[in-house]
Amino acid sequence: MTSGEVFCDCTLGGGGHALTIAPDISPGGLLIGIDQDVEALNFAHARLKAALSALSDPSPARLAIIKGNFADLDELLIQVPVPGIDGFLFDLGVSSHQLDIPSRGFSYARDAPLDMRMDPGTQTTTAAEIINNTTAADLAWILRNFGEERHAVQIAHRIVKARVQAPITSTSELVRIVKSAIPARYRRSGGNPAKRTFQALRIAVNRELDVLEAGLNAAVRWLNPAGRLVVISYHSLEDRIVKNLFNELSKSCICPPEAPICTCGIKPIFSRISKRALVATSEQREDNPRSKSAKLRWAIKSPEEDPSPGGDLDPGVARHRQ
Ligand SMILES: C[S@@+](CC[C@H](N)C(=O)[O-])C[C@H]1O[C@@H](n2cnc3c(N)ncnc32)[C@H](O)[C@@H]1O
Ligand SMILES: [Zn+2]
Repeated sequence: MTSGEVFCDCTLGGGGHALTIAPDISPGGLLIGIDQDVEALNFAHARLKAALSALSDPSPARLAIIKGNFADLDELLIQVPVPGIDGFLFDLGVSSHQLDIPSRGFSYARDAPLDMRMDPGTQTTTAAEIINNTTAADLAWILRNFGEERHAVQIAHRIVKARVQAPITSTSELVRIVKSAIPARYRRSGGNPAKRTFQALRIAVNRELDVLEAGLNAAVRWLNPAGRLVVISYHSLEDRIVKNLFNELSKSCICPPEAPICTCGIKPIFSRISKRALVATSEQREDNPRSKSAKLRWAIKSPEEDPSPGGDLDPGVARHRQ
């Protein structure tokens, strides 16, 4: 980033990444921090304010801290207001802070009510509601598709059987049920056997894959020419969405190879994308075990969008602006 730019961290969390970026956009820059978790926002806001006022810079970057879901990026950025963004960051999933607070119910390693809402003030559906009210078939679908759990059907049946006795309300009860459903030979490797069930439930509760698509598509529209979009994901379902979108938006002409001239008029929205995902170095992995599953992809928006005659968007842009 360079001074004076507008940067938007769509997953502010504890503000770690934002803190390292803020000095680079000073002076004259604007740092927008979004998170759907009020606790994270308050913590990061105080941290960023202190760090920016400690800079020797006489006019440090301004801050705009906004509570909301990045799926609603259009409405959130209109509040600032700002005409466009030079850099976006999405560092997906839950924060270490959220995992460490047992009462949020994100962790299979701590006993807590089965909650998993990232925004408990707005979201109504908890993990307990999904576990206790979803049919076995739908539960199996969630576990297979959002957790890539090969024992999805067995786990779903165990859950349905257990909840007949009494509703399943705690993380430790769910861990016990999952363990009992997985054959012993599979329990010995691959970490905690409940890991994939917890991932699946968290994705379902927070509709994480839908909001990711919505957020990324909105970010592409808000990016200024030559603006940068960086996404760090922590499981293959998210990474696949990022990779597919980046590949799709870096396509140019899609006319059949035998066509004598281009009639589609599609120009790449991204001029450059990362060839493959960047992963953490062994030192980074040692320092921060969460980085083991992290994959970072970046994309740079094409320098200029050619407006077509008559003021309409060119077909490529129009296609992606729907
Ligand atoms: C991995 S943490 C980010 C950590 C941050 N980069 C840092 O350096 O401290 C992810 C954060 O994104 C937030 N988050 C996840 N999905 C979100 C969404 N759809 N909209 C807004 N915030 C979201 C979570 O509440 C959490 O605080
Ligand atoms: Zn073409």
